[in-house]
Amino acid sequence: MTDCQEGEGAKTPMELYERLSVQGDKVRSLKTAKAEKAEIDSAIQLLLKLKTDYKQVTGQDYKAGCPPSENMNVSDNGPAADGTGDEDSVDPWNVSTTNAKGVDYDKLIVRFGSTKIEKDLVDRIEKVSGQKPHRFLRRGIFFSHRDMHQVLDAYEKNKSFYLYTGRGPSSEAMHVGHLIPFIFTKWLQDVFDIPLVIQMTDDEKYLWKDLTLEECHRFTLENAKDIIACGFDVNKTFIFSDLEYMGASPEFYRNVVKIQKHVTFNQVKGIFGFTDSDCIGKICFPAIQAAPSFSNSFPQIFGGRKDVQCLIPCAIDQDPYFRMTRDVAPRIGYPKPALLHSTFFPALQGAQTKMSASDVNSSIFLTDTPKQIKNKVINKHAFSGGKDTVEEHRKYGGNPEVDVSFMYLTFFLEDDEQLEKIRQDYSSGAILTGELKKILIETLQPMIAQHQERRKQVNEEIVKQFMTPRPLNFNL
Ligand code: TYM
Repeated sequence: MTDCQEGEGAKTPMELYERLSVQGDKVRSLKTAKAEKAEIDSAIQLLLKLKTDYKQVTGQDYKAGCPPSENMNVSDNGPAADGTGDEDSVDPWNVSTTNAKGVDYDKLIVRFGSTKIEKDLVDRIEKVSGQKPHRFLRRGIFFSHRDMHQVLDAYEKNKSFYLYTGRGPSSEAMHVGHLIPFIFTKWLQDVFDIPLVIQMTDDEKYLWKDLTLEECHRFTLENAKDIIACGFDVNKTFIFSDLEYMGASPEFYRNVVKIQKHVTFNQVKGIFGFTDSDCIGKICFPAIQAAPSFSNSFPQIFGGRKDVQCLIPCAIDQDPYFRMTRDVAPRIGYPKPALLHSTFFPALQGAQTKMSASDVNSSIFLTDTPKQIKNKVINKHAFSGGKDTVEEHRKYGGNPEVDVSFMYLTFFLEDDEQLEKIRQDYSSGAILTGELKKILIETLQPMIAQHQERRKQVNEEIVKQFMTPRPLNFNL
């Protein structure tokens, strides 16, 4: 009741904006305090009502940290990635949902303003590339995009593009989830025969984590080995550390500064939720992740051309960076980067969150031994959609939609028919949870062992080759 009265009487955009900020904080603190569901729901109701009023009055979506007059500058950002008023929270630092099936990706597409990858786009990629679509496309793991049709239109007219992806090296070992965008990027590089730049944001990790610059840079070199082990073509791939390349390339730094000049503090607050107590390094960082989206950041590769189209494959947690980039691009005379977004490889404990490098038990690391993999999958860590007893399981079947082992198989089992048979057999109760876990262990163990074998072949000299600024071999 008090809440409803709080919402009334706010008529001007600024009044509504201020009430929204207060109500957003209230929802967050109720959630953090694990308040009664009814209380949270009522606070969310009021928040949604205020958002509707705000849109009616201003004609724009409310963005946290972005007061009404500043909103007018941001046309393409979509709402803040704070998850307020929704069950799911997705931003570059945190992914969580209360739904056991995982994030509601259809809702996320609407919230972020991207476009669903429908079958017609998958068919088009097949037609244009002349290759069977990767299983990540066939199975909706890459599920959302921005401007991919435009990229294909141009490609069909012999106007090629380049790929850009990245990694924030926060620890020595990467987990299996981190591989998803790299596996897919390698496939794109192969089928379209195009150059690729990979940004290692050691500066980002220094700013966000309790790590020294030396540690972050060392993690860059270690993680680069895992990335190279995915099979990228050295003649078509440039991997760079921000800590090295920012100082070595005036062209790159010029783009960073251009971007910084065209984004206000309010805008990054709205997009990333920065507060007044965040260090200024964080506030400036988004421009550094944006800069590789523009081809003239790499004169050694593109010879100063600023019009080469960029395509960014990544999980959807990185989208806030690129909403900002796409908003800035036309204002500084560059094409907007296109994007392909993937879903999250879930944590072992269930799809409520993504795999995280900071929680050892949530993840299968690329350094895990066969025994560790087996223990993690079997020993309680892998959430199962099976029933409590064998009898019940046989009678009612398991639920593959919430079963982590089944979800993992959808990412890594290549054979569609085999996967479908497993799904049916698990749902009917013909396959028990233990048997499903065994199939997963037998899929993961050789996959990780092969990765480790390929990584062993990557020596310092090879890393240096990939990381040296140089021309690449391709035709645009
Ligand atoms: P980072 O190191 O957090 O993640 C590296 C890449 O892996 C994706 N990712 C996942 N994909 C599927 N399932 C998961 N559980 C999962 N966890 C992470 C991320 O979306 C990312 O694509 N700031 C970035 C580094 C970066 C970048 C980029 C990433 C710089 N430029 C351009 C993508 C595109 C970061 O810290 O990523």
